[in-house]
Amino acid sequence: MKSYKIALLPGDGIGPEVAVEAVKAVEAAGSRHGFQTEWVRYPFGAAHYNKAGEILPDSALAEMGLCDAMMLGAVGDPSVKPGILERGILLKLRFRFDQYINLRPARSYESVPCPIPLPKGVRIDSVVVRENTEDFYMGIGTTREAPSSNSEGSANPEGGVDVPFEAERGLYNLSGRLTAKFDPDCAAALQIGAITRPGVQRVTRYAFDLAKKRGEKEVVLASKANAVPFLYGFLDEETKRAAAAYPDIALKIQNVDALCYHLARNPARHGVILCPNLFGDIVSDLLSALTGGLGLGAGGNIGDGLSMFEPVHGSAPDIAGTGKANPLAAILCAAMMLDHIGESAGAKSIDEAVASYLNESDEPARPIELGGAASCRTVGDAVAQKIG
Ligand code: NAD
Ligand code: IPM
Ligand code: MN
Repeated sequence: MKSYKIALLPGDGIGPEVAVEAVKAVEAAGSRHGFQTEWVRYPFGAAHYNKAGEILPDSALAEMGLCDAMMLGAVGDPSVKPGILERGILLKLRFRFDQYINLRPARSYESVPCPIPLPKGVRIDSVVVRENTEDFYMGIGTTREAPSSNSEGSANPEGGVDVPFEAERGLYNLSGRLTAKFDPDCAAALQIGAITRPGVQRVTRYAFDLAKKRGEKEVVLASKANAVPFLYGFLDEETKRAAAAYPDIALKIQNVDALCYHLARNPARHGVILCPNLFGDIVSDLLSALTGGLGLGAGGNIGDGLSMFEPVHGSAPDIAGTGKANPLAAILCAAMMLDHIGESAGAKSIDEAVASYLNESDEPARPIELGGAASCRTVGDAVAQKIG
């Protein structure tokens, strides 16, 4: 029997609650389709950090790299300063394994009402292809308190900052120093983004290949060259250049503000939506909401090495421990993961089980997020049972 080694990082808040249900779905698919899963579980997240002071050690990264795939619930907790766990765990994993695609499909279900009513027979079937390693996410920057303290770089009473930076990617390395001079009494923050030709090329190819596979004639690029010309002007030009290899598929460049406007008025208007990192984060939450809720938004961080599957949503501390979390996003991530490791029949069983669960359940049997009364575990059990 085939066996897969899967790294599992449940994380914080509702992360562990939804991860359990995703594991159930994988196990059910394994029993039905004849494969086994060995879960390698990691404790990283707020509780571990608060207890042991450890965020994500290199030894764990090395071990994870030997797994066939990874599943992550969510990280981030009000007891820890924002960014420590998110950057220290989630972004570290994305960058370390050069997971350059964040693939976030958004599909609506017939039986789940969308906040913007769709015309009869129209369904949302979009996919955000988010560049996942560049843009303002690179972490290059500093904060300067007045007059002289500085958390990351060096500051001096004359107002200067001087911060070294380094980014290692599979395709290239970037390093240098960020230097600037502020008025001595001016507290300020400085952060830069980077977008590179190889970075744009690989995500553009991925988006256009996907559009081709989906039989679509257009890819929309979320941009903002009118206000941020260096970064997104370059993005537009480089995307056009890379898209020239696909003469049958049009590239439509749209400012991200207008894109959000149009999506809110007509959620089903696009197929593949190509986004730089920051806009992709925002647009994917919007699309999840338009399909019915964040608890339906699945995603995968895809690279040439270890790929990691995690819902679009976060740790939702406002509902953690209440049973209100909708685990369907995590369960749909399990399907994406199985597809990725080559168990496409198992993936299909999970996708179909979710669809039939949603379409066949009367309202009270649906997840609380979708207006029903079913707890996280009840939803997970119902889907696992349908998988067979
Ligand atoms: P969030 O996605 O956690 O929550 C936003 C809203 O959606 C909340 O009201 C929440 O209750 C609701 N929600 C989210 N997922 C849900 C689900 N499955 N079922 C029902 N309702 C759901 O975003 P936030 O509040 O901005 O972030 C909370 C924490 O999560 C922060 O620490 C943030 O940094 C972190 N975060 C982590 C990830 C990740 O690990 N992948 C992603 C996003 C946010
Ligand atoms: C996401 C999250 C992360 C992101 C945060 C937690 C760093 O919002 O996965 O969408 O911005 O990518
Ligand atoms: Mn997000």
